[in-house]
Amino acid sequence: MAKDGEKSEWKDFIWNPRTREFLGRTASSWGLIILFYIVFYIFLAGLFALTMYVMLQTLDDHKPTWQDRLSTPGMVIRPKADETFEIVYSIKNTESWDMYAQALDKFLAPYNNSVQAQKNDECTPDKYFFQEDSGDVKNNPKRSCQFNRTILEDCSGIDDRYYGYQEGKPCIIIKLNRVIGMLPGKDGQAPFVTCGAKREDSDKIGQLVYFPPNGTFNLMYYPYYGKKAQVNYSQPLVAVKFLNITTNQDVNIECKINANNIPIGSERDKFAGRVSFKLRINTVSN
Ligand SMILES: *[C@@H]1O[C@H](CO)[C@@H](O)[C@H](O)[C@H]1NC(C)=O
Ligand SMILES: *[C@@H]1O[C@H](CO)[C@@H](O)[C@H](O)[C@H]1NC(C)=O
Ligand SMILES: *[C@@H]1O[C@H](CO)[C@@H](O)[C@H](O)[C@H]1NC(C)=O
Ligand SMILES: *[C@@H]1O[C@H](CO)[C@@H](O)[C@H](O)[C@H]1NC(C)=O
Ligand SMILES: *[C@@H]1O[C@H](CO)[C@@H](O)[C@H](O)[C@H]1NC(C)=O
Repeated sequence: MAKDGEKSEWKDFIWNPRTREFLGRTASSWGLIILFYIVFYIFLAGLFALTMYVMLQTLDDHKPTWQDRLSTPGMVIRPKADETFEIVYSIKNTESWDMYAQALDKFLAPYNNSVQAQKNDECTPDKYFFQEDSGDVKNNPKRSCQFNRTILEDCSGIDDRYYGYQEGKPCIIIKLNRVIGMLPGKDGQAPFVTCGAKREDSDKIGQLVYFPPNGTFNLMYYPYYGKKAQVNYSQPLVAVKFLNITTNQDVNIECKINANNIPIGSERDKFAGRVSFKLRINTVSN
């Protein structure tokens, strides 16, 4: 009995023939509700579109309005060490270092002199290359300076296809992440890279040589105006060649940028302006 009553109550709730109500409401009541929601959502969509439109009007296509992420530049090395930042190989095992040489080939291909000559300009070295907009007149597209692969000399992979890896004198290439508008260096002094061993390894690092000389990033590659404004921009590079590094042992190395206006390892970003990695070259098999 009780069960039957419940069932018919349910049925009545879904469709009540006496009051002609569907789910407790009459057709006109439902119609009004649906109409209300349609108008409400059209209003919301309109409001959203209007806000978007106003926001987009304030954006400059060629310059990010907000740049919070990279106010201090990080440094990265190539060949890309794995997540642990280790470059480990055995001279005798070609396969263990060939991948590094191949990675550098790939990385440096856009720096081929022929490619650079086609894409970029020969700039006046040792001074910033400003290409400011004059008021509302945009100075786009902006030109970029050539960074020829041959600048890297022994680390260019041109004369020595294996970048020294095959003889235990490997090259590491360093670049500074792009930061729009950054003017590194000060008083006409170009920023330069120096690498050293962590304290306990200082007698193992051996002699280093930098390309270009002194490991400088020439001032003419700055400021950078962003991907859209400066489409052909080539980041300048510094190569470090380890001429006499101790083999069969881990050597912990840190490279840093020297420029009196880039804070190194500041509290805000402890990786700013420096990069650490482990280098281990084995001469015994494996
Ligand atoms: C760049 O130069 C290297 C060596 O000279 C050559 O093997 C490679 O094909 C060139 N790549 C491009 C994209 O020009
Ligand atoms: C880069 O190489 C090209 C082709 O060899 C050459 O014409 C150009 O002058 C070089 N640029 C610089 C800045 O040395
Ligand atoms: C960028 O490079 C292309 C060739 O790859 C060239 O035609 C173009 O003029 C360059 N643009 C600028 C702004 O230098
Ligand atoms: C390298 O640095 C030394 C000392 O700071 C300086 O005398 C020399 O001219 C620099 N060389 C180049 C090519 O910048
Ligand atoms: C290379 O380093 C070793 C010590 O690790 C040293 O005995 C040797 O003289 C160095 N060779 C050169 C050419 O600097």
